[in-house]
Amino acid sequence: CGIVGYVGPRDAQDVLISGLAKLEYRGYDSAGVAVRTDAGIEVRKRAGKLAILAGELEKEPLKGCLGIGHTRWATHGLPNDTNAHPHATEDGKLVIIHNGIIENYLHLKDALTARGHVFRSETDSEVLAHLIEEKYQGNLEVAVREALAEVRGAYGIVVTHIDHDEIVAARTVSPLVMGVGQGEMFLASDVPALLPYTRTMVFLHDGDMVVLSKDSYKITDLKGTPVQRDETLIDWDAEAAEKGGFDTYMLKEIYEQPQALTNTLIGRLHDETGEVNLDINLDPASFKRISIIACGTAFYAGLVGEYLIEQLARIPVEVDVASEYRYRSPLVSENTLAIVISQSGETIDTLEALREAKKQGARTLGVINAKGSSMTREVDDVLYIHAGPEIGVASTKAYTAMVSAMLMLALWLGRARGTLNEELGRELLQGARELPRLVEESLQPERVENIKRVAQKYHQARDYLFLGRGVNSPTAFEGALKLKEISYIHAEAYAAGEMKHGPIALIDQNLPVVVIATESFLLEKTISNIQEVKARSGKVIAVVSDGDTEAARHADDVIYVPRAAEMVSPVVNAVAMQLLAYFTATALDRDVDKPRNLAKSVTVE
Ligand code: G6P
Repeated sequence: CGIVGYVGPRDAQDVLISGLAKLEYRGYDSAGVAVRTDAGIEVRKRAGKLAILAGELEKEPLKGCLGIGHTRWATHGLPNDTNAHPHATEDGKLVIIHNGIIENYLHLKDALTARGHVFRSETDSEVLAHLIEEKYQGNLEVAVREALAEVRGAYGIVVTHIDHDEIVAARTVSPLVMGVGQGEMFLASDVPALLPYTRTMVFLHDGDMVVLSKDSYKITDLKGTPVQRDETLIDWDAEAAEKGGFDTYMLKEIYEQPQALTNTLIGRLHDETGEVNLDINLDPASFKRISIIACGTAFYAGLVGEYLIEQLARIPVEVDVASEYRYRSPLVSENTLAIVISQSGETIDTLEALREAKKQGARTLGVINAKGSSMTREVDDVLYIHAGPEIGVASTKAYTAMVSAMLMLALWLGRARGTLNEELGRELLQGARELPRLVEESLQPERVENIKRVAQKYHQARDYLFLGRGVNSPTAFEGALKLKEISYIHAEAYAAGEMKHGPIALIDQNLPVVVIATESFLLEKTISNIQEVKARSGKVIAVVSDGDTEAARHADDVIYVPRAAEMVSPVVNAVAMQLLAYFTATALDRDVDKPRNLAKSVTVE
């Protein structure tokens, strides 16, 4: 979602609307603003695109010099007027905007309701308004701090109160940047919203809290201890700013993965109890087989899902590309669960396959990124992956988020059906929780530089081969797909053990072979495959776990990735695949964000 805040001499409404327009790519199912006018704090919010709200405000403007605004990408509650932000307290004196997810909101909401608070929306965010109101005793900063102490989850929060000429904001996972002006201060979830007004920015860190008035700002941690953050002068042009200073959307989205994965996982895994809470109504005992249906990158996430669900939940799974599923008279019964996986929720092949499965009586579940998309309206249940908007045509963060969602689903099914032993369950849950950190580590500059070096070394190759085993054979397929899509180099992927049955004929000194050889119970077999390639003068690029010496010994080039449990490793390894494809494509001067012939969302058959 997008946030903008303003305090200063200008018309706040104009700053808010122009800023939100720049952030619309972050979410666009509803929009709202609150402006402090002579009549009090006035809130206007509307479902739908920002233009609807902007049109109304043009007719009846809100006059005032302090305000906050939001564009929403729904997580809890439908995208309607009531659930749109800002949220106000009943007396209208305090308004808040919140990005992120409050994990313990149900617990907080029950307690607040018992104490007499009346909730208007279905959002987790409204809890914050009531909680801060309860803590408020004349000092807004203190009230926000006390409220946040009771909150678990991720947030970027912005608050204002009728009795104060100030905005109080805080962040954990959700980004917030402050713009420093002359006698005015700004706040936004991303730089582009503020560029027309100031180039002096302060990037808030996790756990920072800030109080803004028109002439000053004060940053503290959540305990109230002042912290020092540098003012940064931004010299990006507007286009670069929308890409967050990265050269392309794709690279930006690759780097957004730790945050995207945090959003995928948050509130769904509980360390203390080992439980997985997916908020879906499915009865895990009610089906006997699973069909996973998807296209492109999402299909490969489905293949990882197949492996995980069969291993952990012991249910037979088949995976189909949607365009095949539709026409092959699939065997479906009321004991079938059909899972569609889609970033856009609009891919026509997948949508039609979903309809086919439904028609034949399957229960349906969507693993989907885009809120309110067609598929979300037609499935029985949705498991949102919460990756945020993905603009680069080649999917990156949506893929790792899909794979993480499939991992959670497999854990949930395994637990519910009693097929997953407690110890492995806890181990995997812990492994899943660590994914954002592991992916963050995968993006350390030395690692990225190394992958760039490898990519540049082989960028003239005509063909590439990718090999992987077990849960990482889909990683090899996804790696080959990424490379094809954005570099136009022909690439094939095979399950490593299958190489000797055909593709081995292709191997010569000109063929780079990427072998995924990370931690696995079958690592020795993969090392044999590496030797088979070497014996035929192929060039081996081995992707290995930190600390490995065995696989690396036989390779021409080595890509080290953080060590991860095998079942969670497809997420970590995918990042290396993305970077390899990315730097190969840039070495060849390709338009990575808009590769030829491809479309982000294909709505024709
Ligand atoms: C298109 C895109 C692919 C994507 C596929 C499925 O072909 O170019 O990158 O994986 O559609 O898209 P979906 O939105 O259903 O995940």
